Amino acid sequence: MDARTVLAHLREGIPLTEAQLHWFARGLATGEVSHVQGAAFAMGVCKGGMSAAEIVALTRAMRDSGDVLHWDLPGPVVDKHSTGGLGDATSLIVAPIAAALGAFVPMLSGRGLGHTGGTLDKLEAIPGVCTDVDEARLRAIVGQVGCAIVGATTEIAPADRILYSLRDQTSTVESRALITASILSKKLASGAQALVLDVKGGSGAFMKTRAEASALAESLVSTAKAAGCATRALITDMNQPLARSIGNAVEIAAVVQVLRDPRPESRLCRLSLALVGEMLALAGLYPTAAAGGRAALDVLQSGAAAERFAAMVHALGGPSDVVSDPERYLPSAPVICDVPALSAGHISGIDGEALGQVVLELGGGRLRPEDVPDPRVGLTDVLALGDAVVTTQPLARLHAADAASAERAIPVVQAAFQIGAATKPPPLIHGRVG
Ligand code: URA
Repeated sequence: MDARTVLAHLREGIPLTEAQLHWFARGLATGEVSHVQGAAFAMGVCKGGMSAAEIVALTRAMRDSGDVLHWDLPGPVVDKHSTGGLGDATSLIVAPIAAALGAFVPMLSGRGLGHTGGTLDKLEAIPGVCTDVDEARLRAIVGQVGCAIVGATTEIAPADRILYSLRDQTSTVESRALITASILSKKLASGAQALVLDVKGGSGAFMKTRAEASALAESLVSTAKAAGCATRALITDMNQPLARSIGNAVEIAAVVQVLRDPRPESRLCRLSLALVGEMLALAGLYPTAAAGGRAALDVLQSGAAAERFAAMVHALGGPSDVVSDPERYLPSAPVICDVPALSAGHISGIDGEALGQVVLELGGGRLRPEDVPDPRVGLTDVLALGDAVVTTQPLARLHAADAASAERAIPVVQAAFQIGAATKPPPLIHGRVG
């Protein structure tokens, strides 16, 4: 087998075989396939697409390019993935709920990507927490606590790590086939038996329309099922931030609030319950997603999920009492100020990507891969679609490292909100696939 033949077949539209894709993915991981050949592959797939069978084969091939974890635990191994949004810390609520209800969650998560936040950056806003653990420690935490949210080791799906970086450099991230194989190769390598996906569409998501989000959800669900993992996707709205806080420490504060005082009317709490309900039903622990969702609310209200979260934070090096005393630990920004509305009316539109960009520019994310996010900065008290507002009333509260960055951010936040006539906000969950 050689890379030129695989690339020639791709160029000519000759279907790639499972054996070719396995060889190519393994070659990317070992270096036998060069980065130039990997980049040509990414462009070829991006331009020509792939059949459903090829996407399944590529996903399996990338999964098998490194370690595949196998678990022997007294409950189902479950996982969750979100395609990325704003103010979305649901993983940090879903994982401890699932653990409290008898599932095991080895969740290999990512860092911030573009304007969207990363679960690991949020968790590491808690002083002492380090999500960079080896496989032995991951196994120990999952066994003892029931959930561990950590970074993927370099041995998990190494072909994806290389291909992802080549896609980033060659403007080929957008390919649905490559996104599907990239997301699922890592999830399948972590040994999940049941997987729930939150596929977001809207101004704050990578998929800007509901149609694009649905197409990605169909591709992810059918591929994961064909690769042997029970999977379901919710298609959810990202035309406004999920929570009223965007940033690292401020989103942990929002998570702690849900764990201490769950209010299903909050979008963050409601979506977490819906996702974990689907996950528990898929794993066979409850007969329906609705029954799983009710059990989830019970363990939130009883404090059992909060205990799992606290135990996970402690096992990752953080304090054991962050849930009971978050103000003691969560870092706060030196400059906190309101962003006043410039007119009166109702919030009729929110440019989510612009708000994400503000948090990025405040230092809360990464402009370059080597940047270290500032855990203190972000936005809180962000108004939601449909909220009434009068002139000078705050649209949001800004948390900045200094006065100059706050001043730069204020007009950008103001421009991100449209104020107009009262309109009905879009539903949080548009549909379900799988
Ligand atoms: N997340 C991933 O892991 N891969 C993609 O291609 C896109 C988002």
